[in-house]
Amino acid sequence: MTDGEGDGELEARLVEQETFEPSEEFVEQANVSDESIYEEFEEDWPRSWTRAADLLDWETEYSQVLDESNGPFYEWFADGTLNASYNCVDRHVESGDKNRVAIKWEGEHGETRTYTYQDLYREVNEFAASLRDLGVEEDDVVTLYMPMVPELPIAMLACARIGAPHSVVFAGFSADALATRMNSADSRYLVTCDGYYRRGDALDHLAKANEGLDGVDHGVDATVVVDRLGDDGFGHDLKGNQHDWDDLMAEHQGARVDPVERDAEDMLFLMYTSGTTGEPKGVKHTTGGYLAYTTWTSHAVLDLEPEDTYWCSADIGWITGHSYIVYGPLSLGTTTVMYEGTPDFPERDRLWEIVEKYAVDVFYTAPTAIRAFMKWGSKYPERHDLSSLRLLGTVGEPINPRAWKWYYQHIGDEQCPIVDTWWQTETGGMMVTTLPGVGTMKPGSAGPPLPGIDATVVDTAGEEVEAGRAGYLTVEKPWPGMLRTLYQNDERFVDEYWREYSDPDADEWVYFPEDGAKIDDDGYITILGRVDDVLNVSGHRLGTMEIESAIVGVEGVAEAAVVGGEHEVKGEAVYAYVILEEGQDGTDEMRDAIIAGVEDAIGPIARPEQVIFTPELPKTRSGKIMRRLLEEIANGEELGDTTTLRNPDIVTEIQGKVQH
Ligand code: PRX
Repeated sequence: MTDGEGDGELEARLVEQETFEPSEEFVEQANVSDESIYEEFEEDWPRSWTRAADLLDWETEYSQVLDESNGPFYEWFADGTLNASYNCVDRHVESGDKNRVAIKWEGEHGETRTYTYQDLYREVNEFAASLRDLGVEEDDVVTLYMPMVPELPIAMLACARIGAPHSVVFAGFSADALATRMNSADSRYLVTCDGYYRRGDALDHLAKANEGLDGVDHGVDATVVVDRLGDDGFGHDLKGNQHDWDDLMAEHQGARVDPVERDAEDMLFLMYTSGTTGEPKGVKHTTGGYLAYTTWTSHAVLDLEPEDTYWCSADIGWITGHSYIVYGPLSLGTTTVMYEGTPDFPERDRLWEIVEKYAVDVFYTAPTAIRAFMKWGSKYPERHDLSSLRLLGTVGEPINPRAWKWYYQHIGDEQCPIVDTWWQTETGGMMVTTLPGVGTMKPGSAGPPLPGIDATVVDTAGEEVEAGRAGYLTVEKPWPGMLRTLYQNDERFVDEYWREYSDPDADEWVYFPEDGAKIDDDGYITILGRVDDVLNVSGHRLGTMEIESAIVGVEGVAEAAVVGGEHEVKGEAVYAYVILEEGQDGTDEMRDAIIAGVEDAIGPIARPEQVIFTPELPKTRSGKIMRRLLEEIANGEELGDTTTLRNPDIVTEIQGKVQH
């Protein structure tokens, strides 16, 4: 959606307004409200990061904040030791807050479960004991292929407790995607679930998990299955090395497992994400730096206090859920809300019903959701008392000013600041955003880099661009939450993130996130989107190569090119241009087979919006596919230069086939 479109429910006064200030009331209570923090970080860098580390309980204090001797393989708080599960659970129990609610869970059908910190402590311990009993040892990677059930954060924290890194695979991903990730991480343990609910239907998740397990090349030692569906289940029998979650927990009732002392640089988890090539990247995050960073940003940006009820509507299967449903909020001792279902079930006011019911203080969501709310209209939030809200946040993709203002007016009642937070799976936590108690907000612009974050916008030569000019976002100094490497692939780590703008000979390393951006005179950064072949569909990151290889894997397909086209709600949608083999026809069956092929290889999130059959793809004389043209065609835009094409005629033919 471009500015000026969408429903007309925005007051004219707001349409004109370009900057917004937090209310005095907000600033007075904010965790961070003094702008001197930016200078403090700069003057005392990197020691200023002790502020973040001080929010944690360390088993052994670290003596050095940052070890830069082997860039870009930086180490943070390296000789310190700690345990993430201890920090997210035990310390709150020990400090007398055991009865405070840690997790409020709501199922799609309205059933609820509440876990106090004491409950969480008990369950995390019992599951940690269960994992140990199944043979899981320190540093074994445990794959968690689970939907939004409380057992997911419990399993994550149980893994952290025994020093076994977890690798969470989003439940919406396919069996193939699960197998690829288990193979890549050499993971021999899986925790999964019989199923879950989506818009009223029970989904058979275990069938998918079992199919994925069949594709794992090495042996799998044990699988644990959560019974979510009860009588609605699909009646799968558990196989020899498959265990029922409840049985394990009953066997280990009352068990206690001492949190394992982990080095700050020990891996806390792996998270696979899409890149330019077909192979997903295993992003490695560590115990000390990541936990310090997510805790600090939850405190400074989300303004969380232990007394708050906080809700991030993301799925834990993505980094947002790891950092800002589980680790950051629980480390601070906050109450974190988890919701299993979709925003429009049973009705389009479901999220607002939940905000009212739990009196949510801080709410964090994605622009794609806000665009859907806008489309549905303000009558849904108006049905509910949302006055408990103090702060709103967004993440995952650029938010256009109109959607920002709608969120501000209709959800925040013009009382709540909004933080538009730019970050990535790789950065671990938020990087560019206003501090809500300090900065002026400018809708459409994420804001300045956070204190201690040295982000800037440069041209292809690495020179800073003038204000207002488009360039590339770069980060010049390391930060505690950064990825440490790509799992077992240091070379790819350096190639992907540190080649473009670094000067290895001078030992100068610059992180390149592969986003386009511009910066204004006040140092506010507006993100323009990815500059690599990665799409952002409903805030989900998808590699075009992954989708293309899924399509080419379908029988009868010769070649495919995938690009993103603009989409009113999803932001971007997948457009697949497909060349079939000789003798094949672009029938409906072929289209269905292609869609099924993509869903099987990746999952329904990657489903093409349109499949366009074409005898040729527009190529340059050197044989390179002109993706820019394919994007313009998908968007129904006027076409740029086609003179360098080997086959210019094909363009008009393709144009005629795309539906607008
Ligand atoms: O293009 C940027 C976009 O999402 C990408 C990172 O995707 P992922 O690793 O899946 O993490 C998403 C959640 C942190 C970025 O490279 N992006 C993220 N936040 C914003 C954004 N684009 C614009 N504005 C944002 N606030």
